[in-house]
Order: sequence, then C-alpha cells, then structure tokens
Amino acid sequence: MTSNDGVPKRLSLPDSWIIGWLEIDEGHQTILRQINDCLGAMDAGRVTGFIARLQGLYEMFEAHFVEEERLMADVGYAGLPSHMAHHAGVLESLATLLEQCRLKGFAGPEDIAFCFDNLLSDIVNVDLNFKAFGEQRGLISP
Ligand SMILES: [Fe+2]
Ligand SMILES: [Fe+2]
Repeated sequence: MTSNDGVPKRLSLPDSWIIGWLEIDEGHQTILRQINDCLGAMDAGRVTGFIARLQGLYEMFEAHFVEEERLMADVGYAGLPSHMAHHAGVLESLATLLEQCRLKGFAGPEDIAFCFDNLLSDIVNVDLNFKAFGEQRGLISP
C-alpha cells in the first residue's frame, strides 16, 4: 500500500543487504524502525511531531556511523577513510533536510523517502564493501 505520493506506508530492507555484523545490522534496523514510525505518524501528508522525529532519526544515523567506524578501525579496514567521507556526506544531507523541513514547517512523505534513500546509500554504496572485506578475512560468514 502506498500513500498519494507513491511512498510505501511501510519500508523494509531485503535480506541480501544484511551485512553480517550484528551491531551494523541492528543499527540499520533501528534507523528503519524510526523511518517507519515517521510514515506511521503521517497525518494528511505531514509527519506529526516532525522536528523531534527527524532529529531522532539524525541522531540514530550519527550513532550508527560512529559504531560502524569503530568496528572498521578495530579490524584495520583500509576502506575506512572513504567510508567515513561517505558517512559525513549523508549526515550533511540529513542536516540540510532537517533545516529545510523546519523552514517550510512540515515533513512530508518525500522527505522521509529521502531519509530512506540515505540509509540505502549507506548500505549499498559502502557497507556492502565492508561485508565483502569481512568475508574475505573470515571475520563473518558469507
Ligand atoms: Fe551502515
Ligand atoms: Fe556505513
């Protein structure tokens, strides 16, 4: 089921995007839950209490990135600097979105879809590379 904007009322991640590190996968699920909470809090195309919800979402992304980077540093992941740069870009995009929503006075489905796209970007563009590294090193099971 989708809203009028074509954004599903509930979003999910495919199993093929499970990274294999419990902390990382739990972080993705925590962010996803908050995104779905935002979609569930939609009233007439606007997220009720959007500032607190989006601020919470931003903080969940931030905490997730800190945890990922700590884990990557612990195992000597060579891709860490570019991964960190990607994380910084995501946080900047989300901070800009939050500011834009504050200015216009609401967050709509397209704004939540943008947050979901940023979660996908973290997983698909950089985390899956770390998954491959973990598998090559025998740190996680394929
Ligand atoms: Fe991630
Ligand atoms: Fe990441």
